[in-house]
Parts: sequence; structure tokens; C-alpha cells
Amino acid sequence: MTRRVLVFDSGFGGFSVVREIVAQVLGVEIVYIADDAAFPFGDWEEEALRTHIVDLLGDFIARHRPDAVVIACNTASTLVLADLRVRHAIPFVGTVPAIKMAAERTKTGLFSVLATPVTVRRDYTFDLIAEFAPAAKVTLVGASHLAALAEDRLSGRPVDMARLKAEIAPCFAEREGARTDIVVLACTHYPFLADLMAEVAPWPVTFLNPAGAIARQVGVVLGASEDKGAVEPAARPIAEIVFTSGRQAPADITGIVDRAFAMSTR
Ligand code: DGL
Repeated sequence: MTRRVLVFDSGFGGFSVVREIVAQVLGVEIVYIADDAAFPFGDWEEEALRTHIVDLLGDFIARHRPDAVVIACNTASTLVLADLRVRHAIPFVGTVPAIKMAAERTKTGLFSVLATPVTVRRDYTFDLIAEFAPAAKVTLVGASHLAALAEDRLSGRPVDMARLKAEIAPCFAEREGARTDIVVLACTHYPFLADLMAEVAPWPVTFLNPAGAIARQVGVVLGASEDKGAVEPAARPIAEIVFTSGRQAPADITGIVDRAFAMSTR
């Protein structure tokens, strides 16, 4: 039996979650929605973005009748998950900053959350810190250009390394002899830059990508078998990619997907 899953992001960042879903959960057919008409989400005013996403996803849910929806975007998840769960009686899996995971793993007690400007302003993010990392020193860094740099890379264009370095620089803090040891990648685009971030980082840190855990959660809500042998893989795991701008998929969309699936994100 094939289960249909809608995966939503502003662009190609959600592929960092899709590739984990495809690797971990068999029998899933994905309809990927790239809300490129609204890219980047990180620059929107919050209420306008909330209304936009709730309305848009309402239409897609009515049209595709999915078994589950994955909001493969931190900016959107922190804004709309609660609204969507009230409106639709299907499972939603969100992507929220991996603050609990970082708090459990940090050795120095200093970690940073690298996200879009909207995500680092949200009460949702402050609440996660208060609940799961009350003892940690957390640096919140809102980056305006990183999602676009990730889109460049996935599209085969060169990445502006000076800009990348400047955007991640505030993540690196030193206090009383201790240094940041984890940077939470709290935007699904950022894992596609993780190896380049490591090149320009002032000292080695762990760039934490929670995509594997999100994919596991997708398996749980779908009731997917742990025994991969029992379920047939879908013939085409990514059945369709929809661009909300109405544009056709770029000519090298296969190249973009292949690059996303092949890239090291850890
Ligand atoms: N990929 C998105 C996220 O996880 C948003 C990037 C953007 O559109 O600014 O937050």
C-alpha cells in the first residue's frame, strides 16, 4: 500500500528531509510543494505568512487528500502547526529547532541556533529553550541570505563563501574559557551548506541536522513497518514537484534532486 505524503517548504530546503524519508520509510509517495512564489519565508511579516500558508495548504490538502503532511520548514512549522492541526484531521509532522537534541549533546553548555530571522524571533523558539535548555547559553542567529545560498548550491551555482562566513560568524561564542560546540541547523536549507560552513568556521563544531529524526516521526505517524522487507518501495518516491509560482520545474530538476540526495549534510 502506498501512502501519500505532502511535503512543504519555501524552496528546495525540504529535500534535506525528503531524502531521509525516502531512505527510512518505504511505500511513501511524496508530493513536494515548493512555495517559491513566497520565497524566502524568512523575510515575511509573521501574521501575513501564517495566513498565506494555512490557506495554501488547505487547498493542497483538499486536492491531494494526503495520509500525512510534513512541514519541512522551521519558519513555517513554528508559525502554523497548531492552526493546521485544529483545521485538519490528518497527522502533521513539523520541523522545529532541535534545541532539545542540542541541550542533550552539548559538552561546553554553549550552543547556537542558526535559523531564519522569523524563526529566531518566535515565542515557539524561546519556549523550546526555556523548556529543554534552561541551563545552556544559547545564541540565536537569524540569517537573511543562507537559504538563498543553499538554493544556489542545489541549482549548481557557486556559493558566495564570504557571505556564508559572515552569516555564520555570530554563531561562534566564547565565554569563560568555553566555546560553542554545536550549531543547530534550524532551517531545512542549511544542511546543504554544512560542509562549506565547516570550511569557514573559526573552530570545529557539530552542525546538527535533525532530518533523520523527522523522517522517523513520519514513519511513526504513518504506522510504517520497521521491517523494510515487508513493504514495497514506491515506484516513484517523489511523485510530483509543484511550484506555487506556477513555473515549470527547472530543466535540470533531476540534477537538483540528485545533488540534494548525494550531498553530505552532516
Ligand atoms: N527552509 C525554511 C526553513 O526551514 C525557510 C527558508 C526561507 O524561505 O527563508 O526555515
